[in-house]
Amino acid sequence: MAKRTIVTMPGDGIGRVVLEETLKVLTAAGFEADYVEGDIGWEFWCKEGNPLPQRTIDLLEKHKIALFGAITSKPKDDAFNELAPELKEKNLVYASPIVGLRQHFGLDICMRPCCSYTGNPLNFIRRGKGNEIEEPKVDVVIFRQNTEGLYGGVEWSNPPAQVYDAMMTHPKFKKNFGWCPKEDISISTRIFTKKYTERILRAAFEHAKKYGYKSVTVCEKPNVIRETSGMMYKMAQQMQKADYSNIQLWNTNIDAQMMWLTKNPEDYGVIVAGNMFGDIASDGFAGLIGGLGFAASAQFNPETGIGVFEPTHGSAPKYADFKVSIVNPIAMIESACMMLDFINEQEIAKKIRKAVAEVIAEGKVRTYDMMKMTGKADVVEKGAASTSQMAQAVIAKL
Ligand code: NAI
Ligand code: MG
Repeated sequence: MAKRTIVTMPGDGIGRVVLEETLKVLTAAGFEADYVEGDIGWEFWCKEGNPLPQRTIDLLEKHKIALFGAITSKPKDDAFNELAPELKEKNLVYASPIVGLRQHFGLDICMRPCCSYTGNPLNFIRRGKGNEIEEPKVDVVIFRQNTEGLYGGVEWSNPPAQVYDAMMTHPKFKKNFGWCPKEDISISTRIFTKKYTERILRAAFEHAKKYGYKSVTVCEKPNVIRETSGMMYKMAQQMQKADYSNIQLWNTNIDAQMMWLTKNPEDYGVIVAGNMFGDIASDGFAGLIGGLGFAASAQFNPETGIGVFEPTHGSAPKYADFKVSIVNPIAMIESACMMLDFINEQEIAKKIRKAVAEVIAEGKVRTYDMMKMTGKADVVEKGAASTSQMAQAVIAKL
């Protein structure tokens, strides 16, 4: 079989180092692939006026699978000031290349696993009935609709007349907002389509079935947001009844879910939500398992098979220029494992996850975040593992 080609998009800041270390882990685990690097991020915004050059899109179109580190985004003024002088006249507007990738390739399924590793000092703990300390095992996977809803970008301030007039036909708009001058109104829409709602629900149920989770929880707010959340929950009920009678369907409201996640996180399995609530729920659960150093994600389009696998953290510019990188590579390594699952290399993924679990359980090699240190250049002298030492520890277990 021909070797597969993976597009690597290191991006900015710590994205580069976590990706580089992860590739070493993949190789050590026996994963064979050719890698081609895709340009993405701030550097290309400054030099070319485009943080997501067409050649990178072409690479992903061709090879379908990408590992992505992280990018830096900066506010409007900085974006303009840092542009190459010859580009300043061109009226260019910075747009996030990740959102760009998502939209261009319709990466509508976002999957974020939050599983606690035994021995991780950052694991969530609570008091039990007799006041004893409990450390519940968290094993949750969040499926977030990635392209629609409140992040769909359909919004206006001082909306055009047709939009305003159409809104005025809604009795509640007229009653509650009709008093307000049009110029003083901002509207962000929350659009759900049946096609993509069905797809995220299907992905969630299929995952629960494949990996033996007992429940799928729709985490929305159908009692208040009746049309969109309501549609998602109703479709989930129909789908469960028709195809997944062995899996329980639960329904939580996002606000209550945020409260319950520290009370009984071990009760949840697969969680599925629209774009914004999925974003919130996944950060909430990630906090229980160690935070940004451990939070991995996959984004893919089930029709085209195009997938981008990335840690949820950003480029952490304040650590980007350390001589010895101190950040935790586990989120990136986990993201690579999700890629391996996606391309049917589950055995290699399993091997890597086992090695990571062993390193964490042993507790000898820990990055600064696991040691609860403030991220400074001297943490390595003080006993924290560097990014590379953590990757090497995983490789040693392989
Ligand atoms: P960030 O995730 O880059 O960093 C926040 C803090 O989390 C860091 O200062 C550090 O203390 C900690 N942290 C992050 N990754 C870590 C790791 N692997 N190990 C240990 N600690 C880690 O978020 P921030 O500071 O809000 O944004 C920095 C830049 O990254 C911005 O330009 C932002 O736009 C961008 N960003 C990019 C994302 C992406 O590429 N997907 C996601 C989030 C932010
Ligand atoms: Mg986020």
